[in-house]
Amino acid sequence: MSVRIPLIAANWKLHKTLAEAHDFLDKFRENLKLQDVDVVIAPSFLGLHSMAIALKGSPIHLAAQNVYFEEKGAFTGEVSPGMLHDVGCHYAIVGHSERRAIFGEDDTMINQKVRAVFKNSLIPILCIGESLEQRENGETEAVLERQLRTNLEGVVPNQAAKLVVAYEPIWAIGTGKTASSEDAQAGCKFARNVVDEMFNSDVSQSLRVQYGGSVKPDNARELLSQPDIDGALVGGASLDPIDFEAIVRGALG
Ligand code: 13P
Repeated sequence: MSVRIPLIAANWKLHKTLAEAHDFLDKFRENLKLQDVDVVIAPSFLGLHSMAIALKGSPIHLAAQNVYFEEKGAFTGEVSPGMLHDVGCHYAIVGHSERRAIFGEDDTMINQKVRAVFKNSLIPILCIGESLEQRENGETEAVLERQLRTNLEGVVPNQAAKLVVAYEPIWAIGTGKTASSEDAQAGCKFARNVVDEMFNSDVSQSLRVQYGGSVKPDNARELLSQPDIDGALVGGASLDPIDFEAIVRGALG
């Protein structure tokens, strides 16, 4: 029997002013009693500080949507893992497909980021996933395995056990085309098996694997009931406090 607590994370991407972020928090927290589920919100960098203050003492944790791997120096425009830790962040999303495709982040850079995040006592939410073309060519497993093996190079087992992997098929992101629960389960299970081969079964049974890609209130429960899906990374539907709350409730069975 698995003891993994599901983790539902909101990735707000490039959305919400500070006022909108706080309005969301007020509405979202009104009724929700969080038990047996971890909730994480990833606002823009600019929202992290004031949201951390608003969430002090709350079980809701914060994630950064991105991070750089250097601690300090001449890296104009970048934010370090230490700075994120300092403002009260617990997690950092690393390797989102939008970072890979739009901002040219490669597997080597993502690996540097994963290691820097762990070094600063944060937990990476490492995103992996195949494109539609790769899926149609039957390359899904090869792509997921390559991403995991390169992105987790140099990570030690006690770090990997805390890792969150988000399996986000690129063709399902923002398209309304959710993966079937069978395909989502297969991708998450495959990722867990690769981690098992890379580390050991304690690690693969501890780490949480999320599914992401058009998760909505009406498909969350079925996706989250799959044995290897330990949570969701939610884009569009996380912008609305009522929809996001419904998705969180979907994790409660
Ligand atoms: P959507 O939920 O909008 O498809 O986005 C998924 C995603 O990219 C989360 O990181």
